[in-house]
Amino acid sequence: MGGKVTVVGAGFYGSTTALRLAEYDVFDTVVLTDIVEGKPEGLALDMNQSRSIEGFETKIIGATTTAEGAGYEATANSDVVVITAGLPRKPGMSRMDLIGVNAGIVRGVAENIAKHSPDAVIIVVSNPLDEMTALAQIATGFPKNRVMGQAGMLDTARFTNFVAEKLGVKVGSVKTLTLGSHGDTMVPVPSRCTVDGKPLSDLLSHEEIADLVDRTRNGGAEVVALLKTGSAYYAPSAAAARMAKAVIEDSGAVMPVCAWVDGEYGISGVYLGVEAEIGRTGIKKVVESALTDSEVAALKEAAEAVRAKQADVQTL
Ligand code: LAC
Repeated sequence: MGGKVTVVGAGFYGSTTALRLAEYDVFDTVVLTDIVEGKPEGLALDMNQSRSIEGFETKIIGATTTAEGAGYEATANSDVVVITAGLPRKPGMSRMDLIGVNAGIVRGVAENIAKHSPDAVIIVVSNPLDEMTALAQIATGFPKNRVMGQAGMLDTARFTNFVAEKLGVKVGSVKTLTLGSHGDTMVPVPSRCTVDGKPLSDLLSHEEIADLVDRTRNGGAEVVALLKTGSAYYAPSAAAARMAKAVIEDSGAVMPVCAWVDGEYGISGVYLGVEAEIGRTGIKKVVESALTDSEVAALKEAAEAVRAKQADVQTL
């Protein structure tokens, strides 16, 4: 056990991520920040009071921050920083509708984090995900391997859940994979989807799989429409927390994440959902796996779609 993780943003996503990380009991300290005065301190106090019940020693520290950078001293020398700051979607909105307002927030946060934790690994979860990840790298000036985004773990988990429910099997027997963007150009990888080792295409028709893929692609919006205010956070926080754990434990776990792609699959110079080995240096390596021709073509299409938008964030 050791190390320090900061979670920026004490909304549902951030606070749930902070609690999950504390309950893993692998960090010495979890710092939770927010611009709403007293909110992170109050949540931290409450979480610390659960320690003797849940049996973890990690200390949670809450810190109110300002856009100008006040309060960031509490985050100093973090090993990992999860950025959840920004607005969630409202019903009917696409993730891309958030780009203008969230770019300003994420840029400011990233600059303040870089000042106080120059060696941190950054995990971005703010939307639109692929663009905010690219922006955080620009704003911190960190090496690209030390900035990544959370999306593929979540999309994959949603897909897995839908397959398990459809077939009435345990989630543990289902393996799925999605790559590409956390949005319209999400790329499901049917060739890597299995149930108890059997290809998914042996168990479900092409149409049935297409329906589940569609539901996965709209997985976030389906939750937003039901909640009416705010967006999903239980599955998203589970994914982000597992990534932070893999970093601090230097586990080398291979996860679908938003990572800088430099030649893999014939794609370069873009943040994109791919599988990567996660460890103390962030992205240790993008793992290129065998995909079918049509899957590679879909991934290239996703890369071009996010490339255009990522170019826009430089000026936001
Ligand atoms: C979702 C948001 C968090 O997919 O992007 O639920």
